Amino acid sequence: MKVLVTGGAGYVGSHVAVDLLEKNFEVIILDNFVNSSRFVLDNIKVITGKNVIAYNVDLLDKGALNEVFEKNKIDVVIHCAGHKSVGESVNYPLKYYDNNLISTINLCNVMNDHHVHKLIFSSSAVVYGIPESLPLTENSPLNALNPYGKTKYMLEKILIDLSLSNPLWKIVLLRYFNPVGAHPSGLIGENPTGIPDNLLPIIAKVADEEMDELLVFGGDYDTPDGTGIRDYIHVSDLAKGHVHALESIDAFQKFKIFNLGTGRGYSVLEVINNFEAVSGKTIPYRIVSRRPGDMAVSYADATKAARELNWVATKDIYDMCHDAWNWKQNSKGIDKVF
Ligand code: WQD
Repeated sequence: MKVLVTGGAGYVGSHVAVDLLEKNFEVIILDNFVNSSRFVLDNIKVITGKNVIAYNVDLLDKGALNEVFEKNKIDVVIHCAGHKSVGESVNYPLKYYDNNLISTINLCNVMNDHHVHKLIFSSSAVVYGIPESLPLTENSPLNALNPYGKTKYMLEKILIDLSLSNPLWKIVLLRYFNPVGAHPSGLIGENPTGIPDNLLPIIAKVADEEMDELLVFGGDYDTPDGTGIRDYIHVSDLAKGHVHALESIDAFQKFKIFNLGTGRGYSVLEVINNFEAVSGKTIPYRIVSRRPGDMAVSYADATKAARELNWVATKDIYDMCHDAWNWKQNSKGIDKVF
């Protein structure tokens, strides 16, 4: 079976590509490399011992996208490509609406032109907004609060409408909670350029003395230690969830939605403690005011994916911190990263 992974040189996409190759799927990577690097393709080959066909294509370039489908008989598409920074989306909403929406609509049109109707889409728990109750199930109310989250919300609605318009379509929406960590080999992972948005890359930079301290956004939440709680999930577990979705999609009709989380949350201070344990470093931190838009607690009810995808996350926060630190150590000097 030939699988196209859009954004396949990116953080999640590269881990999905590795898992697919290790399961003997044929993988084609499509990436525009604006937020990823070509060395990832080399390291995917080192990890798996397999070649992967890669195209430097922007999904906004419908002609180039069409050529990829002309050249390859693709069976399924796993769509990971997209801008994903909450903060950036607030400052540049049109960049997010243009890129994330138009690229996905282009992809679906070209898929349809080539009679490809199986799609696994990278969505996000950000579509839930501030939880009304916990844990979050796939039926929890949706309330995306920032342009990035609204693109995911809108794309879910677009893809659901598409799946209802033609019985040929089988579409799986995977709502990622907080992807963290890296492949145990330390050859692929996440390490955003500049000042990252997310907690783990920042903690890794503090541990590696690239940043002086971690600012903890809020110590007065209604949580056991006052800091925010999130459902962090190891990116390798997340990747496996995509392979399970791929292996299950033929049995599905129209569309399916799954939370990909561990089902338990960890606070910022718990993450700091685990990172200090795995790195042997002290993480200096200062508790400051809350970050606008943050919620106190978010974690998944992941039982639907367990039931219908036969998938559960297996790695805990210690593994996540260990592999994040290992990747940080191994990726020193990489000029351009995700
Ligand atoms: C986690 C916790 C912060 C940085 C976002 C997106 C989500 C997904 C993951 C794309 C919170 C605290 C963080 C810092 C801190 N991205 N924190 N100091 O906001 O839960 O989710 O990233 O799919 O869609 O919404 O992740 O890592 O930014 O924050 O105290 O310097 O760490 O307050 O409690 P978040 P995060």
